[in-house]
Amino acid sequence: MNNKQGINGQWDSRWVFILAAAGSAVGLGNIWKFPYITGEHGGAAFVLIYLVCILLIGIPIMVAEVMLGRRGRMSPINAMAFLARESKASVWWTSIGWSGVLAGLLILSFYSVIAGWSLHYFMLSLTGELQHIDAQGSSALFDGLLSDVGVLTAWHSLFLLIVLGIVAGGVIKGLGVAVRYLMPLLLLLLLALAAYSALEGNFGEAARFLFQFNLQSVSWDGVLVALGHAFFTLSLGMGAIMAYGAYLPDSMPNQQPISLGKTVVIIAALDTAVALLAGLVIFPIVFANPAISPGDGPGLLFVSLPVALGGLPFSGLFATAFFFLVFIAALSSAISLIEPTVAWLVEEKGWSRRWLVSVLGAAVWLLGLGTVVSFNIAADITVLGFTFFSLLDFITTNLMLPLGGLFIAIFVGWIMQRTLVIDEVGTLDRGLYRWWYLMLKYVSPLLLGYVFVMALADKIGA
Ligand code: TRP
Repeated sequence: MNNKQGINGQWDSRWVFILAAAGSAVGLGNIWKFPYITGEHGGAAFVLIYLVCILLIGIPIMVAEVMLGRRGRMSPINAMAFLARESKASVWWTSIGWSGVLAGLLILSFYSVIAGWSLHYFMLSLTGELQHIDAQGSSALFDGLLSDVGVLTAWHSLFLLIVLGIVAGGVIKGLGVAVRYLMPLLLLLLLALAAYSALEGNFGEAARFLFQFNLQSVSWDGVLVALGHAFFTLSLGMGAIMAYGAYLPDSMPNQQPISLGKTVVIIAALDTAVALLAGLVIFPIVFANPAISPGDGPGLLFVSLPVALGGLPFSGLFATAFFFLVFIAALSSAISLIEPTVAWLVEEKGWSRRWLVSVLGAAVWLLGLGTVVSFNIAADITVLGFTFFSLLDFITTNLMLPLGGLFIAIFVGWIMQRTLVIDEVGTLDRGLYRWWYLMLKYVSPLLLGYVFVMALADKIGA
């Protein structure tokens, strides 16, 4: 093992890595996206497929990504170049890093717009405008936001500026407080809200919707969305976790080696818990209000939550805290979307972080305007039924991330020299290691390929 540090630094301990990776994983994907795509795809069967994807594909690939990053000790592009050379493989494997950089920037462009919604709702709750709102009022409020290009753009700009400011200062310093104190707070608040929601809303209906599955209700398209979301929610397939893995030391301060398997399972479990909790907060409210329905789309969280909170004592306080924590969760995720790019440019060109961040930021900001208008003036401009936002989301989440994951699995399972893999992951106990290698080499690639083919055949057949 190489215990040397890369030029972008190193975490203090395994826990800091876990917190940073969990900070990357837990974000809008869990709180905003998971509930609404679950609603759109009919509930329980979709949830089950998503959980299977996390277990059989997400976790093995996450171990692979952390391992590649830690061994490469560089940004994904340079790490892949080094690892390919080390195993005498083609330099083409570097394209895993390149497509990751592209996917990260594309995702950040729309992520920032949605994160802007959480800032807007934070302000609304702070000023008391969400107090005693009912379902109709809440829908109207959200539609009003979507139609306002100026407001959407302002929040998108502010969010992106904050992200860039932190990244410019260096991720290892910048992430500290957010992940150490605020993420646990988010978990607590979600627990409290879920309890409240269970008492006040229609918990029975929500639980049936989320957990009582029948297989008929999911199309291949839905399976592809569940698979894509497993990647999105764990921040996999574009090098974010690889970049963070590059800052992970080989051993703990007490010299005990760090088990990648355990580390990854903790992160995945936290991430899944937050998503399911978000579902348990939102759906009881949805089913208790005829004006809101599960398939309402990207507005689901923002419409249902204010209604849920309306009746609560100190509702303003809860709402303010909630939307602030959603913003923090989005922030720690957004940082990881751009970190691989910045780390690479710093290594490569020796340019200052500040300068790079400004140029990249401008490009991402411009692209984000496409998402802004796709909710209003350009809502009718569609390609294959996709608006600009949904197309960008589809291409990145459902195609680029799983494909990136497929190549990562193939690289580690088939290309990288086995002795090197054992050298890095050997600290897992043997049974676990075997299971992981089997998954990565055969099961994950075959499942990924199968879902791609079936979803495509379905699209062509339709
Ligand atoms: N996982 C984050 C979420 O659920 C989003 C995210 C951060 C991400 N970094 C990523 C998604 C890298 C894909 C790839 O909100």
